Amino acid sequence: MKAQLAPSILSADFARLAEEIARVADVADLVHVDVMDNHFVPNLTLGPVVVESLRRATTLPMDVHLMIEDPDRWAPAYVAMGASLVTFHVEAAADPVRTARAIRAEGGRAGLALKPGTALAPYLDLLPEFDMVLVMTVEPGFGGQRFISDMLPKIREARAAIAALDLAIWLEVDGGINADTAEQCAEAGADVFVAGSAVFDAADPVAAGRGIKAAADLAMAVS
Ligand code: DX5
Ligand code: ZN
Repeated sequence: MKAQLAPSILSADFARLAEEIARVADVADLVHVDVMDNHFVPNLTLGPVVVESLRRATTLPMDVHLMIEDPDRWAPAYVAMGASLVTFHVEAAADPVRTARAIRAEGGRAGLALKPGTALAPYLDLLPEFDMVLVMTVEPGFGGQRFISDMLPKIREARAAIAALDLAIWLEVDGGINADTAEQCAEAGADVFVAGSAVFDAADPVAAGRGIKAAADLAMAVS
C-alpha cells in the first residue's frame, strides 16, 4: 500500500474549513478531524454538528479522531454524521469491542487510539475488531508539538502484530509528523500519516503534503 495522508484541520482556519479542505484536496487521502471535549484532553474543538456540515463540504473520506470521554456513547453517531473512520481512545472506552462493533454496524470503520503512555500489548486481542490502530506520537490535545521518537518501537510492535494476524488493518501516526518523522514512522510500519501544522502552516500545503507522502513511500518501499 502507498502512504496515505490525512491533513488535520486542527491547524486550519476554523472560520473557513471548507476552503481549507479544498486547499489540500489534491494531496489528501482523508481529512483528519480532531474532536476534543475539554475533559479527555485540555482543549475543545467541534462535535457532530460540524462533522455533518463538513460531510457536505468535501467528497474526501473523513477520519474522525475522538479525544473525548465516554466514546462508547458518542462514537457511532459520528458515522451517521458522515465519518468514514471513527477512532477513539482505548483509555476512555469502557467497552472498546462493543464500541468498535457499533461503529462497524453503522457502516463505518473503527480505529483504536493509544496515547503515548499507553502500551499496545494489553489490547492485542482486540485488533481483529478494528480497521485501524492510531499510535499517538505526541500527547493528544494540541497541534504543533514535537514528535516523540520513543513511539517508534510501539509502531514496530503494532506492525508486527497486524502482520501476524494477516488482517488489512491500517496503522496511523498522529503528532509532529513532517517529511522527516513520516519517513521514520513509515520505516517502522506506519501507512497513514496525519499532519496538521506541517501541511496547513506551509506556504504551499499541497507541496508539503506531497513531500510527506514521498518520504513515507520511499521508506515503505525499502522496509
Ligand atoms: C493532536 C491531534 C493532531 C494534531 C496534529 O491531539 O490529534 O491530529 O492536529 O498536529 P501536528 O501535525 O501539528 O502535530
Ligand atoms: Zn488527531
